[in-house]
Amino acid sequence: MTGSSTAVAHSNIALIKYWGKVDSRLAIPATSSVSLTLDAYRTETTVEWGAEQDSVVLDGAVLSGVPADRVSRFLDLVRDLAGRSDHATVVSRNTVPTAAGLASSASGFAALAAAATSAAGLTLAPRDLSILARKGSGSASRSVFGGLAVWYAGTDDLSSYAEPLVDPGLDLAMVVAVVNAGTKEISSRDAMRLTAETSPYYDAWVSASRSDFSSMLDAIGAGDFTRVGELAESNAMRMHASMLGSTPPVTYWEPDSVRCLRLVRELRSAGAECYATMDAGPNVKILCRRPDLATIRTAVEELGVAGVTTALPGPGVRIDRAT
Ligand code: DP6
Repeated sequence: MTGSSTAVAHSNIALIKYWGKVDSRLAIPATSSVSLTLDAYRTETTVEWGAEQDSVVLDGAVLSGVPADRVSRFLDLVRDLAGRSDHATVVSRNTVPTAAGLASSASGFAALAAAATSAAGLTLAPRDLSILARKGSGSASRSVFGGLAVWYAGTDDLSSYAEPLVDPGLDLAMVVAVVNAGTKEISSRDAMRLTAETSPYYDAWVSASRSDFSSMLDAIGAGDFTRVGELAESNAMRMHASMLGSTPPVTYWEPDSVRCLRLVRELRSAGAECYATMDAGPNVKILCRRPDLATIRTAVEELGVAGVTTALPGPGVRIDRAT
């Protein structure tokens, strides 16, 4: 039986970060996280079963080596679920600069999970899709959902999943200052492993992040934008502090990253309330409220970084076409 499906998923940016696993095979994280799915970055993936071998084309280029193996291992999980042994042709298109800390693996594996299961004739509940996507890339568990999402760390395969959070009208938006859209020197996967294995600050990160997580749920529940922003910024800085303590140190920051962080502080003093977060890359994402989007965008443009994108909360994963 062959089948083909196309799915679209959007990337997400964590407001409380996931950085470190307790189980690498199952991708069970050390801490729970919270994210905002964005409308600006998306991956569209078509999966067709019935092939003799797995093949992956990403943005027009055939993947080989480690990235292709990672997709194939993920397809093994879908084969197991569907009880089938044939292979798949995967064609994917990204509007996320791949591997530049703009969460391409999140949208990528969320779209792949949805397309591969749909094309295999499976209908998964959103939670089960989140559990499956997690095993492709942890952050993909959250991209199954639109807007604000929470990923409960859990303790085993079935208790580690994401679900949507009710947004009490926070009116969130994001300005992405693209400092460098090139490929990062070390993947988030390797960098978080290195941090967990070598940084003396890793345990402190885990306990601080657990406390940030519960404060964040309270702040979101209360609709308190200031508290949400403060927590997001300090949690991101704490994650990077834990990386700096690794051997060798993990340093994603570039001079323009620091200029952006300073700009955020200045904008705040001038009354445009905004907060910075950074992931496994030099780009700075600025969390603000929608009415402040244009002011902040202009200020970042005047700084003269490589690029600026604005984003609003985006939708969860969807199947666009199934035959
Ligand atoms: C800094 O989800 O890319 O963006 O599970 O190993 O694929 P793997 O890692 P990945 O890590 C994301 C790290 C982060 C923070 C976050 O998105 O929570």
